[in-house]
Amino acid sequence: MTNELLKQLKEKYKALGENPETYLKGLLHAKPLNYWDYIEVDTLLDLQKPKTDFKDETVFIVYHQITELTLKLMIHELKQINAHEDFSSEQFFAEKLKRLIRYTDMLITSFEVMTEGLDYDDYNQFRLALAPASGFQSAQFRYLELMCTPVINLVNNEGKKRLTSSPELDEIFENIYWRDAGYNRKTGKTSYTLKAFEEKYLLSFKSLAKSTRGKTVWEQFLKFEDPSENLIFRMKDFDHQYNVKWSKTHLKTATKYLDKKGKTKKATGGSPWKKYLHPKHQQRSFFPNLWKKENILDWV
Ligand code: HEM
Repeated sequence: MTNELLKQLKEKYKALGENPETYLKGLLHAKPLNYWDYIEVDTLLDLQKPKTDFKDETVFIVYHQITELTLKLMIHELKQINAHEDFSSEQFFAEKLKRLIRYTDMLITSFEVMTEGLDYDDYNQFRLALAPASGFQSAQFRYLELMCTPVINLVNNEGKKRLTSSPELDEIFENIYWRDAGYNRKTGKTSYTLKAFEEKYLLSFKSLAKSTRGKTVWEQFLKFEDPSENLIFRMKDFDHQYNVKWSKTHLKTATKYLDKKGKTKKATGGSPWKKYLHPKHQQRSFFPNLWKKENILDWV
């Protein structure tokens, strides 16, 4: 060990008001760290609890968990974008967008594990044991949206017609696009899946919408005086990959398993899924102002 390193270690503990010798002696006895402890492998591998004996249910659970972890990575980047304060250079922002696009690409390309990698008949049996749970109830999916764009952008054209001229947050959330999955405006009936989801998460969604006000990716982007073509391209690429390509891959999978031979099966979350899941119905875009003069993001 170099003297310089020893000196730095001593200074570190002295600054904490601690005796450096105690810690250095502790190091003598400490066991080396192992991969399995650091990565928490045992915990991770103990998190799959199938409800049936169908082998592919494990594939289904693990793949959902992989998606949740990928969303966690994306939210980790988004938190840093939301907190960013220096808009004199684009480098940080561009790098973060690149990461978000890379993770979205992972979500899209790996989705084949669902589209091709499940036995059709087995899936259609074990899924019945999961009702009324649904991927719809992924809170991270909604957190990510609220970190990317002002919540008003999550109201589709039909929803906007119902809004008063200057709606408060509660009114916006009552008309947010994803309520169409479980709230029937004609009958006033709310599905169990939606009710349970809102009971658990709605307050946290509203609180996030408040805390990210003025700091969403879109609003942060607007702080660049003269954004480069490259940055604009990355913003649009992320918007398109996440809100159109991934959504369409997911819809294609739902269609394969739930709409065979023209017969529409009821989804576990009970939504009118054929209509609801189509990007054209949701009209979700994080950065709609970037697409004004084009129709690339027209959700077809
Ligand atoms: C065989 C595979 C899958 C099928 C057939 C399927 C089907 C569906 C259906 C029908 C819905 C509409 C809600 C409902 O009524 O349940 C839905 C929503 C959703 N699913 Fe899946 N899904 C699959 C895999 C996944 C995976 C792996 C994820 C990853 C977490 C996921 C995430 C979501 C999300 C986030 C929603 C809400 C989408 C939105 O609001 O735009 N799904 N899914």
